[in-house]
Amino acid sequence: MTVQTGEPQVAPTLDEAKLNGFIGRAVADWGALGSAALVRIGDRLGLYDALAEAGPVTSAELAARTGTVERYVREWLLNQAASETLSYDPASGRYSLPPEHAAALPNLVGGYELFLGAIRAEKRIADHFRTGGGLHWGEHDPDLFEGTERFFRPGYEQNIVQSWLPALEGVVAKLEAGASVADVGCGHGASTLILAQAYPRSQIVGYDNHPASIERACEAARAAGLADRVRFEVAGASTYPAPVTGYDLITFFDCLHDMDDPVGASRR
Ligand SMILES: C[S@@+](CC[C@H](N)C(=O)[O-])C[C@H]1O[C@@H](n2cnc3c(N)ncnc32)[C@H](O)[C@@H]1O
Repeated sequence: MTVQTGEPQVAPTLDEAKLNGFIGRAVADWGALGSAALVRIGDRLGLYDALAEAGPVTSAELAARTGTVERYVREWLLNQAASETLSYDPASGRYSLPPEHAAALPNLVGGYELFLGAIRAEKRIADHFRTGGGLHWGEHDPDLFEGTERFFRPGYEQNIVQSWLPALEGVVAKLEAGASVADVGCGHGASTLILAQAYPRSQIVGYDNHPASIERACEAARAAGLADRVRFEVAGASTYPAPVTGYDLITFFDCLHDMDDPVGASRR
């Protein structure tokens, strides 16, 4: 029971240091959001590639090399120097991309792309907080699909054949001799194509319930000259077809946690 005393509410005393610390953190978050979009812009327009090729450049030189407008490029460079992606030499007015950053950026950009794509669904996700509904992978902005592939592919290229499969007893020998493999939740097929490339005697099928991703995977297979070794089909993780003799290997790369029924998919 609430007792009304009629006493006026006393405003809480604010700790100024805590208040400023909190505001400071929010300002850093705004900076990160703005910089994320600018990283994508730099990638789209080839600004990083040009910096990696040219070495130290002024804003005018970078604009001339990339067919962009100096006024915009100048602001982009200021942001990139402030976020420490680029180095700036005040004496010459030139910006440069350190070789370590140039090496890491192509993969890191996928992470920026992925998160920028995901936050575009923010309004719809807020609605689901009210309804308890959910968002299918395929309902997201396409940048999420592109960014996911770009971010995860290097890990697959470095690990699937080299260490992950050898860690499973007897699996590599079966794949080399010719095994039947299902790559479930394959997305754009990065992992599926690596398997097809490495084990030409095996029958590899990639399944995903997102038709646009399967279309992209088929295109990638054709472009890599692997269309005769690998097949892609639209199918759900709990319902994809299986040969009578079953599969020798079923893989789920970075996808079980994205599925509406991960337990059902694992039982299949
Ligand atoms: C994070 S992505 C990973 C894609 C791919 N394995 C990779 O690593 O690039 C998750 C994938 O799971 C797929 N997916 C989600 N739920 C699924 C389901 N129930 N059945 C089949 N695929 C599903 C999505 O369409 C998406 O392509």
